[in-house]
Amino acid sequence: MKKKLFLFCSLSAIAVLFFACTHDVALPEDPVDTGEPCDSSIVYFENDVLPIFEAHCAFGGCHDAQTSEEGVQLDTYVNIVTTGKVKPFKPGNSEAYEQIIENKMPPSPYEPLTDGQKNIIEKWILQGAKNLTCTASGSCDTINVTYSGNILPILNNSCLSCHGASVYQDAGGDVNLSSYDAVKVPALDGRLYGSVNHDQDFVDMPLNLSKLPNCQIKQIKAWIDAGAPNN
Ligand code: HEC
Repeated sequence: MKKKLFLFCSLSAIAVLFFACTHDVALPEDPVDTGEPCDSSIVYFENDVLPIFEAHCAFGGCHDAQTSEEGVQLDTYVNIVTTGKVKPFKPGNSEAYEQIIENKMPPSPYEPLTDGQKNIIEKWILQGAKNLTCTASGSCDTINVTYSGNILPILNNSCLSCHGASVYQDAGGDVNLSSYDAVKVPALDGRLYGSVNHDQDFVDMPLNLSKLPNCQIKQIKAWIDAGAPNN
């Protein structure tokens, strides 16, 4: 990468982290299946993180839907991230993680989490606190790809923190990905696929973060090849 571009990207990333923290972002309610076999270096919210919260926090008298002690409800992805004040990439600024690491939660007489469980939660936040799932064999479906079922959840998980309606002008290089009509433009002119596939001549996306899982890139391609329909 050229020096100037690198500097620009670094500065953008700093700006982005700032904006990502000050604006509300649409959170994906349903987990995104990476389509790849489960990878031991990735923490999958649905497979790895949710079971810990379910077993240790989201029960009666504590943080389930009925009780939600102090407004904290730790039973679904959206509730954990919002009421647990989870800040993607920043475990140290994430309230739920702080409480857990200082052994304040779960409180006595309940068992504190094990080091292994704490590590999983830390790694999940460091990897962006995404809502992902996987299956042992992988299941990359590139045949039945739809905007609402596949593309939108990918954008919600990995792109809208910078390209959402209220942030894209500052944090997303003026590229708006917040609605179908907006996404269609870079989809049809080649920028969407070029950037996520890290083709030459495009800026690599997601900016300064790891590449999307292969299956998601293939699904984006399949959807664009089909004419980027609003389905
Ligand atoms: C951390 C913030 C951030 C994230 C996350 C992010 N982008 Fe970007 N994106 C940017 C910025 C900043 C630019 C402008 C870069 C430039 O012009 O140098 C950009 C530019 C783009 C462009 C134009 C690229 C080009 O070469 O013209 C596309 C398309 C794009 N992003 C798509 C995406 C998609 C799809 C995702 C999710 C998979 C994503 N972005 C995630 C910040 C981000």
